[in-house]
Amino acid sequence: MGTFVKILIVSILVAYLAFKWTAPRFDPESLKGSRVLVTGASTGIGEQMAYHYARFGAQIVITARREKVLQQVTEKCLSLGAQKALYIAADMASESDPDKVVDFALEKLGGLDYLVLNHIGPTPFAMWEGDMEHTRWLMKVNFFSYIQMAWRALPSLEQSEGSLVVVSSLLAKMTNPFTLPYSSTKFALNGFFGSLHHELAMKKSNVSISICTLGLIDTESAMDKVRGVTKIPAYPATEAALNIIIAGATRQLDLYYPWFTQVVHIMKELFPWATNYVIQNYSYNYNP
Ligand SMILES: *[C@@H]1O[C@H](CO)[C@@H](O)[C@H](O)[C@H]1NC(C)=O
Ligand SMILES: *[C@@H]1O[C@H](CO)[C@@H](O)[C@H](O)[C@H]1NC(C)=O
Repeated sequence: MGTFVKILIVSILVAYLAFKWTAPRFDPESLKGSRVLVTGASTGIGEQMAYHYARFGAQIVITARREKVLQQVTEKCLSLGAQKALYIAADMASESDPDKVVDFALEKLGGLDYLVLNHIGPTPFAMWEGDMEHTRWLMKVNFFSYIQMAWRALPSLEQSEGSLVVVSSLLAKMTNPFTLPYSSTKFALNGFFGSLHHELAMKKSNVSISICTLGLIDTESAMDKVRGVTKIPAYPATEAALNIIIAGATRQLDLYYPWFTQVVHIMKELFPWATNYVIQNYSYNYNP
């Protein structure tokens, strides 16, 4: 290995550790009574976030499509200690539902401290066969609804000096096969919210943005798709959820969970050829 590369890697590690060391400590008390809206909260990471916020004594509004499941999740939130837990069923592909959900939360909670955007639409794990209809639909669910809700909630978040939390993916930082529409929506999110972060800072608006880069998480929907197809390790949804909440509460711009997703991202930037080789030849069981 060249001296330059060694120095570079050591510098990156030192900078990373220094950054972690100076990161603000998480105070669970800060979430007591805080007003939170979590999307995609009927299952997976969103459901786990609802339970963590509940344990911290937050006031929660959750949303997803299935009313029955939302009702069960809110009941569990109340039993875990949420000061308030309410739900509203919504379809994020609709043009009006994203606004409707934010308005509901603002009215029921009297404002918002955290807007946690987490929902995704189901998408096949397969090579792209030109399905424009699905890609357009997924863009509405995974991207357009996010920016619509963020814009609607922004005045309230500015008042409360609140936080916008966006659940994204390693697939927003590096390209992979089999998830083209999904990856496109996540790249769009990172582009938009990374840019919005600059504009808010320049306007001296004290709303924090956290963009969460997740690796493979062991949710039912993710595991159903990749079982037998990939050797990439999956990490627990409940821990992912807690890390996302802490990133929001401590106003960090970037979260990487599990931690090595950051290393993978850096490796891809430094050694694109080797990374592509591994992706194409060793990451998936694929026989054309
Ligand atoms: C921004 O808001 C946070 C959370 O309320 C607060 O701790 C911080 O002091 C604020 N910063 C400025 C510059 O107002
Ligand atoms: C790796 O993948 C590339 C592109 O699919 C292919 O050209 C190459 O032959 C593969 N190498 C091995 C060792 O399988």
